[in-house]
Amino acid sequence: MTKQPIGVMGAGWVGLVTAASFADLGHSVVVRDVDPARIEELESGALSIYEPGLDELIRRNRSRLRFTLDAAEVFAATGVVFVCVGTPPTYSGDADLSAVWRLVTELPAGVDDTILVMKSTVPVGTGEAVRAKLDARGLENIVYASNPEFLAEGTALTDFLNPSRIVVGSFAGAGAADVRALYDTLNAPVLETDVPTAEMIKYASNAFLATKISFINEIANVCEDTHADVTVVAEGMGLDPRIGPSFLRAGVGYGGSCFPKDVAALKQVAGNSGYHFQLLNAAIEVNELQKRRLLSKLKWHLGPLRDRTVTLLGVAFKPNTNDIRQAASLVIAARLLAEGARVRAWDPVALQAAGPVLGPEVELCEDLLGSLRGADAAVVVTEWDELSALDLDEARAVMRRPLLIDGRNLFDPDTVRASGFVYEGIGRPSADVDSVSSALAVPERLRFSARAAAQRLRGAEVAGEPNPAGA
Ligand code: UGA
Repeated sequence: MTKQPIGVMGAGWVGLVTAASFADLGHSVVVRDVDPARIEELESGALSIYEPGLDELIRRNRSRLRFTLDAAEVFAATGVVFVCVGTPPTYSGDADLSAVWRLVTELPAGVDDTILVMKSTVPVGTGEAVRAKLDARGLENIVYASNPEFLAEGTALTDFLNPSRIVVGSFAGAGAADVRALYDTLNAPVLETDVPTAEMIKYASNAFLATKISFINEIANVCEDTHADVTVVAEGMGLDPRIGPSFLRAGVGYGGSCFPKDVAALKQVAGNSGYHFQLLNAAIEVNELQKRRLLSKLKWHLGPLRDRTVTLLGVAFKPNTNDIRQAASLVIAARLLAEGARVRAWDPVALQAAGPVLGPEVELCEDLLGSLRGADAAVVVTEWDELSALDLDEARAVMRRPLLIDGRNLFDPDTVRASGFVYEGIGRPSADVDSVSSALAVPERLRFSARAAAQRLRGAEVAGEPNPAGA
């Protein structure tokens, strides 16, 4: 049976994963983007987006994929068009919907019998606003549906083909069966809802996961003061099926193009209707502070950071992607530079993207061991597999000071300490400052007292306590 042809507006990460996956399911797909360089690149078989397996999936299904700059070509070829345009945050934290409005305005006048399926993450109420604009243009026959994506970067293709759920929002059921039918071959629960509910499911899911991360990060911070180990606490919590083990990894906070943007947008959606979403405010603030806590840990051991060389291990917001949007590494690098440190950054795939954002003061290192040569501290920011495979003895040998701050709890503390490192994780029993002083060879007068450091880590001002380091 011939499969329904599909259109995709927007050749970004969501658009290309959607297009390639539907092509793999046997659909012919026309992908449109407004950027001539991107279309040219895709036509030539190149791909600047890093998503494991996507390159290969596009190549394998090349005969079923067409790339174009022309919106009319999409609507001429198919009756189902997925909207996968970007909805980045504006200064106010609201989502920028200009790409959506451009699309609605550009819809060719004669288009009829088409289902417009919103995959981009849009604020609750957007579907109703699009519906109103379509109607105002006399395009009542265009059906609108919401079908949010739940793809995570790095595992997007698996997520597409093995979804946890498929959500189809429609106005009075119009088009729902057609959208649902596209996923018939996938084994997943389908939830049919109205449009605002589908939109809210997406926001609420991301906001809940982000809050879960901020929650475990706060537990981690308390663990540090109480000598508990957050990794084991999380394991113990996660065994309760009502809590579940996922998204309980404490670390440097969440980043990426989705959580920060969607949490801020949901906060604005609530605020715009007069509701003060306190829990989200806290989740956002905890996340911001979490990135900065690493600096306190460095100072705890090294004293003032001026002229210290600090290597950031990983700059991508998470492994298996070259995406650096809202990555913790950007904040940590900026703070280190502001403190006068010399900053190096290593990452297996994200250096090219990171270079212009980090700026010329950050030395980009392709070689992992080379990035550690002569460094006063190494900071794990992204839990890349390459780091787990690092030879700790070799690393110890090339560093000036053996200090490893593990922002992702990637390493086993005992193993790292056995290699002669001073190890600090997140929410794990910390090294005793006095016992490590000789290992780091930082003069006593330049280090914070343990009490002052602990108070600083809690964000408290240390009243009346002299800070010999002057930092
Ligand atoms: C997220 C969601 O997981 C997807 O379901 C959703 O579809 C997507 O946003 C989206 O809205 O498009 P993504 O941003 O790709 O996906 O990445 P995640 O794997 O969710 O990680 C987000 C951030 O949280 C990363 O910085 C990661 O390091 C951090 N994280 C994650 C933690 O700090 N701890 C955890 O336990 C899990």
